[in-house]
Amino acid sequence: MTDLATPPASTSHHRAAHPLDRLLPDESRRAVEIVRADERFGGRMRFASVDLHLAPKPLVLAHMAGADVHRAVDVVVLDPADGSTHEIVASLTDDAVAAWQRLEGVQPSIIVNEFGESEAAIRNDPGFQAAMAKRGITDMSLVTIDAWTAGNYGDPLERNNRLVRGLVWLNETPGDNQYARPIDGISVLVDLNAQQVLRIDDERVLPIPDTDIASAEWSRDHMPAGRERTDIQPLDIVQPDGPSFTVSGDQLSWQKWDMRIGWNTREGLVLNTISYTEGDRVRPVLYRASLAEMTVPYGDPSSTQARKNAFDTGEYGLGMLANSLALGCDCLGEIHYLDAHYCDAEGSVVEIPQAICIHEEDFGISWKHSDFRNDNTEVRRLRRLVVSFICTVGNYEYGIYWYFYQDGRIENEIKLTGILSTGALDTGEETSYGTKLGEHLYGPNHQHFFCTRLDMSVDGPSNSVVEVDTVPAPPEENPYGNAFRAQTTVLATEQQAQRRIDPLAARYWKIQSSETTNKMGTPTGYKLIAGENCMPFATEDSSIRARAGYMWNHLWVTPYDEGERWPAGTYPNQSVGGEGLPAWTAADRSVEDTDVVVWYTMGHNHLPSLEDWPVMPVACIGFTLKPSGFFDHSPVMDLPPSSNCH
Ligand code: NI
Repeated sequence: MTDLATPPASTSHHRAAHPLDRLLPDESRRAVEIVRADERFGGRMRFASVDLHLAPKPLVLAHMAGADVHRAVDVVVLDPADGSTHEIVASLTDDAVAAWQRLEGVQPSIIVNEFGESEAAIRNDPGFQAAMAKRGITDMSLVTIDAWTAGNYGDPLERNNRLVRGLVWLNETPGDNQYARPIDGISVLVDLNAQQVLRIDDERVLPIPDTDIASAEWSRDHMPAGRERTDIQPLDIVQPDGPSFTVSGDQLSWQKWDMRIGWNTREGLVLNTISYTEGDRVRPVLYRASLAEMTVPYGDPSSTQARKNAFDTGEYGLGMLANSLALGCDCLGEIHYLDAHYCDAEGSVVEIPQAICIHEEDFGISWKHSDFRNDNTEVRRLRRLVVSFICTVGNYEYGIYWYFYQDGRIENEIKLTGILSTGALDTGEETSYGTKLGEHLYGPNHQHFFCTRLDMSVDGPSNSVVEVDTVPAPPEENPYGNAFRAQTTVLATEQQAQRRIDPLAARYWKIQSSETTNKMGTPTGYKLIAGENCMPFATEDSSIRARAGYMWNHLWVTPYDEGERWPAGTYPNQSVGGEGLPAWTAADRSVEDTDVVVWYTMGHNHLPSLEDWPVMPVACIGFTLKPSGFFDHSPVMDLPPSSNCH
């Protein structure tokens, strides 16, 4: 058996890669072949995910000093015959299965093939066809079905079957906006392994909204002529000498920032070994950053809406749903794209050309001062490096953007757009749990929660996290009543570090080095500044409270453990819950002066408005990591003035 935790004896079988380099398509193919060739798994297995096996952090850091590591692939396969799940580590270095574990009672994320398979199973089911006929629908080619993850609500079917719940829509003509015509009041449970309908929950026959089609269309092919504005002049970004960044393999360097691009089927884009170079000092900031989970709970008690609680990262896989930006990317300037790929159920590689977008943007002024006495003005412009990808999860689009600024800031921003997952109302019916978009059409209330995993390494692996509130001074120190100061609390253990935002106290959290100090002798650090946020509104006894417990704190801090990657557990699909962050942190381990992982959860509350229809204008939510005593003085005094003012 291969020991993946020690360096390999020979390096002849694999390329001289960095251990965090993204899998090449040939490496994924080879991993599939290794699994296929192993008689324990044979030909019947369906591939749920094929991803780079993360080498242990100490080995990666040793590799950066020249040591070698195994190249291995995590393969999750599903045996449709008995419903078991198998976690396999395929060693590319040794060309063999290095580890194997059989799991019962868990469901890996939805496999891309299962979207089409479940839709076909429902469409071909006589009971479903009868339910459609009852509504006057006989042309099944116009019926579309979204496969929503089934969740877990105590139904025995959820224990023993691999499920999705089909929600139903109607096209008027192929390719038009089916979300304008929900066939509501009905949902269909499908067994994905048997590719069979298990149960049709046909609770209400509702009118199919008769929406004004012109106002519901988004595709240029279906839009009425003459709609587009004509008063927009060209705005071109010209970079005659090319961009200021360089990409070498997966290594990205831009001015003083360096990082390594990573990718997997679950999180999509991952950023590794992020550092800022100051003079001849390479200063680590983050070992790894990724969107580790996201959950969209709906807040409408109607039977079809109440069970919409999608975990888009853990139940679907953002990396498998990534857009090819070759088909449409709205970034301006000199763009550098990186391709991605995933493996389908059969283990065949599916390429996503141009999945990752890298470019730089002008971002207004960085700093300015005018000295009127001496008639002197200095101003500098700010630039940022943008690394992003966009994925489509059913009706919604999510753009995940990472920004790196010349002044040392890092920002994460999620752009939400796409189409509301709508519902239908009876004639004259009103609802408090959504916004009416037409007489029979409404957008139900819901929320979007994102949990970003930040494996911090501010000036080295040993960090602590402190909470900083601003408080008025106590009376004895406050003769004029004006004084206020920072109140700093060390978050010493996992339980103490379960925190929520407090904008009224101007609260932030600072991740600081245990070893490095700035010129004033205080720890170097980065502060995490919250942006828009909210709490979930589901009750303590709700299913989603157990299954997505991570949503109930905005901040979690854990000591680094290579097995702790998924905030709602490794297999949130149909889980009963309790796993992930709430389970790990029950141990209340110390998170002081150690290798910490910071988990930031942010929620976007979505009470739809008329303007969100038919395609929602982008809503943004994010957070900032800002240097705080990391530098001894402003890091942007070295910016040259820009030369291209008109
Ligand atoms: Ni929304």
